[in-house]
Amino acid sequence: MPAPRECSLTEFLDLLRESLARDACWGVVLSQPCRGGTFADCPSKLTVRPIELSGSRCFQLAERRGKQEFHQNLAADELLIRITSEFGERFEQADLFTPDADYSARVIRQGVARVTCRKPSKSAPALTHDRGKQYLIPEGRPCPFLAEIGVMTPSGQVKAAKQAKFRQVNRFLEFVDDVLPELPPNRLIRVIDFGCGKSYLTFAMHYLLTKLRGREVEIIGLDLKAEVVADCQRIAEKLDCRGLRFEVGDIAGYAAVGPVDLSVSLHACDTATDAALAQAVRWKAKVILAVPCCQHEVFGLLTDDSLPGLLRHGILKERFAALATDALRAALLEAISYRTQVVEFIDLEHTPKNLLLRAIRSDQPLANVFERYEQLKQQLGLRDFALERLLQTELVALARNRGHV
Ligand SMILES: C[S@@+](CC[C@H](N)C(=O)[O-])C[C@H]1O[C@@H](n2cnc3c(N)ncnc32)[C@H](O)[C@@H]1O
Repeated sequence: MPAPRECSLTEFLDLLRESLARDACWGVVLSQPCRGGTFADCPSKLTVRPIELSGSRCFQLAERRGKQEFHQNLAADELLIRITSEFGERFEQADLFTPDADYSARVIRQGVARVTCRKPSKSAPALTHDRGKQYLIPEGRPCPFLAEIGVMTPSGQVKAAKQAKFRQVNRFLEFVDDVLPELPPNRLIRVIDFGCGKSYLTFAMHYLLTKLRGREVEIIGLDLKAEVVADCQRIAEKLDCRGLRFEVGDIAGYAAVGPVDLSVSLHACDTATDAALAQAVRWKAKVILAVPCCQHEVFGLLTDDSLPGLLRHGILKERFAALATDALRAALLEAISYRTQVVEFIDLEHTPKNLLLRAIRSDQPLANVFERYEQLKQQLGLRDFALERLLQTELVALARNRGHV
């Protein structure tokens, strides 16, 4: 390892310029805020990594302030300007990572740094940019509802603690956008969000459908909690979200609106999901999106004799019961003419409640679906479960049409 040497800050910045010019800047870190500086709001660290956005390379700069981290995407020339203005002014330490070497520069006096050169420690960066990938709401673009609910700053930076929520919002919007062709093309789209809670996803849907897709909507967010509903309504009015309103009510038995085109229930606990699915089926909603949560009912119905080796372990029984519940829901929705898929909502890393039921009403009856549902119930040793009980009338009518009653 060569001995540390003294060089001007300009010389170090030339190294950075040269590495940027040949796409060989694999990272930069500025640390050690200058002591006694006049910058009370000085961030404690800047970390830069190369990313790819819309097919071209740029750099994501993460600025740490206290417990929060703010992100910004910069082109190479903007990065050089930023580092030039920060190194020696706000930070005493700069580390540059390249394929040839790691350079570590420490300011020792005005305009001069001691530079150490070591073997390269970083491997080639994966240039994917999870936040900036073709997200429907990209980071860096101000989005009023995300700012209002504290996910973004008003200038469009996603707060570090809200990154997972930001990804979840975007992931959900992808599902909604995918089913848009199934929804009425020439008229107002009616949507209900059952158990909307703080309504991140309800506001997101409104933003997607109205602002990004130019559709007229009537969206209702329904929840049991009056306070939460009042808060959401206040935000909807403040942001002038036309066609979006919130109501207090119980999913079970909710019938205050007419039929809806899209029914959403995200993380509605246990059989509240079944109540939401049943209501959507009764309305003949064209699309149902449901992310179930805490499926307890079937856990209590499974007997150990069906799969003794598996069900005698409590934790396995719990997980199996959750999967069985969603399999039953999917099979029953198919039996009732919904083409249904069970897909991953968001990586398990973010939430264990990560399955989404995506059901689209078919105009034609689907083949063999009733038999499949009955077979699944039989395999699980179940007589019925909540969704079946809730849809008794519809199932009897179906059976009658099929000549079974
Ligand atoms: C875990 S939160 C999910 C909130 C939101 N959908 C989301 O995914 O971010 C579940 C919400 O469902 C509401 N909820 C549960 N059972 C309900 C019912 N029977 N009727 C209406 N809302 C219900 C709760 O009050 C709570 O706000």
